Amino acid sequence: MSSSSSQRLEGKVAVITGGASGMGESSARLFIKHGAKVVIADIQDDLGHSLCKELGGDELLSYVHCDVTNDSDVQNAVDFAVSKYGKLDIMFSNAGIAGNVYPSIVETENEDFKRVFDINVFGAFLAAKHAARVMIPARKGTILFTCSYLSVSCFNAITPYVASKHAILGLTKNLAVELGQHGIRVNCVSPFVVITPMMRKAMGVPEIEKERLQELVSTSANLKNVMLDAEDIAESAVYLVSDESKYVSGMNLVVDGGFTLTNPSFETAMKNFHAS
Ligand SMILES: NC(=O)c1ccc[n+]([C@@H]2O[C@H](COP(=O)([O-])OP(=O)(O)OC[C@H]3O[C@@H](n4cnc5c(N)ncnc54)[C@H](O)[C@@H]3O)[C@@H](O)[C@H]2O)c1
Repeated sequence: MSSSSSQRLEGKVAVITGGASGMGESSARLFIKHGAKVVIADIQDDLGHSLCKELGGDELLSYVHCDVTNDSDVQNAVDFAVSKYGKLDIMFSNAGIAGNVYPSIVETENEDFKRVFDINVFGAFLAAKHAARVMIPARKGTILFTCSYLSVSCFNAITPYVASKHAILGLTKNLAVELGQHGIRVNCVSPFVVITPMMRKAMGVPEIEKERLQELVSTSANLKNVMLDAEDIAESAVYLVSDESKYVSGMNLVVDGGFTLTNPSFETAMKNFHAS
């Protein structure tokens, strides 16, 4: 446990959707370390309950089953946080899926597109809507979305996912404008590739050890000699939901080591041309 002077979220109450795994789980751990009380809202009940047990029971952390595409589930998660811990300061809307990988838009299944948008975009909308419902009367609060470097860049084969992350950036900006009138900040954090269960599934590599996959990611990364971990995204999240960022709103914090500033394809083509 940190000393109280380093508890940057002391006294705050947070809901984290998709908090049972990956970056949501890392964020739940770090938010608690920084003094917050956390409600994890997820559909992986076993993981959520065991996390609660591990981190000391419901004084600090609670789990509620919540499918983010279901209005009453999201309403219940927010109302649970308020009734259990007295208020809601932070909504971290993080739940998401990658969807399937397709060779082209022609093969992309309509149902897959709808499912990705349902969870990633409609789920984020519901999280923000129910958070705003209790934050507006309190005239304060902060909403954070997990977006992606693919909100400012593109990737063939996962068009629904890329479009959904661009949409979350739109939600962030529009809600920052609307909810700023009520003293509520709205931001998003946009990670580069992090080896989580979702990413393993998207890469089609459920078994390969994390270090090997990180090496693979590193070959394409702009920033060398350092690996991006879920904990690094949690650190960015703590900043964006803490009072340290009290005047930051409408921001997309892209945690990609400069990746989206680069496009090495012409440079590589030139190198290959001269080498041949
Ligand atoms: N891993 C990456 O490289 C990467 C990069 C950029 C953005 N992201 C985004 O980060 C977020 C977290 O993903 P992660 O990589 O930690 O993956 P993850 O699979 O470890 O975590 C995602 C969590 O969301 C939950 N979830 C899925 N559908 C849900 C639903 N309908 N209702 C409630 N919860 C649901 C899952 O149960 C899981 O616990 C996602 O929004 C993802 O798009 C991931």
